[in-house]
Amino acid sequence: MRRYLIAGNWKMNKLTSEAVALVNELKRSLPAKKNVDVLVCPTYTSLYPVKSVLEGSNILLGAQDVFWKESGAYTSQISPSMLKDVGVTYVIIGHSETRGRFGVPEPDFDETILKHFGESDETVNRKAKAALSAGLIPIICVGETLSERKEGISDGLIAEQVKKALDGISGEDVAKLVFAYEPVWAIGTGETCESDEADRVCHLIRTTIEGLFGSAVCEQVRIQYGGSMKPSNAKDLLAKTNIDGGLIGGASLKAGDFSAIVDAVE
Ligand code: PGA
Repeated sequence: MRRYLIAGNWKMNKLTSEAVALVNELKRSLPAKKNVDVLVCPTYTSLYPVKSVLEGSNILLGAQDVFWKESGAYTSQISPSMLKDVGVTYVIIGHSETRGRFGVPEPDFDETILKHFGESDETVNRKAKAALSAGLIPIICVGETLSERKEGISDGLIAEQVKKALDGISGEDVAKLVFAYEPVWAIGTGETCESDEADRVCHLIRTTIEGLFGSAVCEQVRIQYGGSMKPSNAKDLLAKTNIDGGLIGGASLKAGDFSAIVDAVE
């Protein structure tokens, strides 16, 4: 039996004092559920203060990215052991907002700048390996843009993202991983992927893993859905066989909404 993982990706939101206030509220409002792991992923600057507040609760701490080197001249980067050091146990890797193919350009923004976040399948793979060897659990994000979906190439592309992310990783480590299916067109847009379709793609991710590592491994991997998950659609999505949780952006910034999503797990 896989445990559900409900994770809040706070993105670039909340000053330290606001982050601390939010987790204090969450500690009060989260429903007690035996089969759910609850995770919050604040900004780097809030990790340490949030960790102090989480002490003694069941809420887990995650980061939004990691670099693959341990230390050295890598200005701006943060290493797996630095995250471990502040109590992080999970790390999001390859979010579409960091990957090179950026699907929702802002009209008043130079898209080439966004491309310079430059995440590729290869850097995702390096980060996943480095995180695993430090004992962190990667949440690897995969998903297609709207134009890729319209072209009918999304299934092949997602399978490719999964394969490349797992290159050179042992079956034992793969079993610990989390994948998040995040259709880029559904992120922060209010547009949700229909639950049957989300379930189908999560199944595709699982069978891709099965093809590489066998069924014992693929049955252990947790696969989340992410993209405008909210209290009103969470129950439907989380009831699906292949959806083991959610990676939640906007709705994770309000304690009431996030708690209601956790509560939607049967
Ligand atoms: P959203 O973001 O819930 O605001 O759509 C999800 C994500 O990007 O992880």
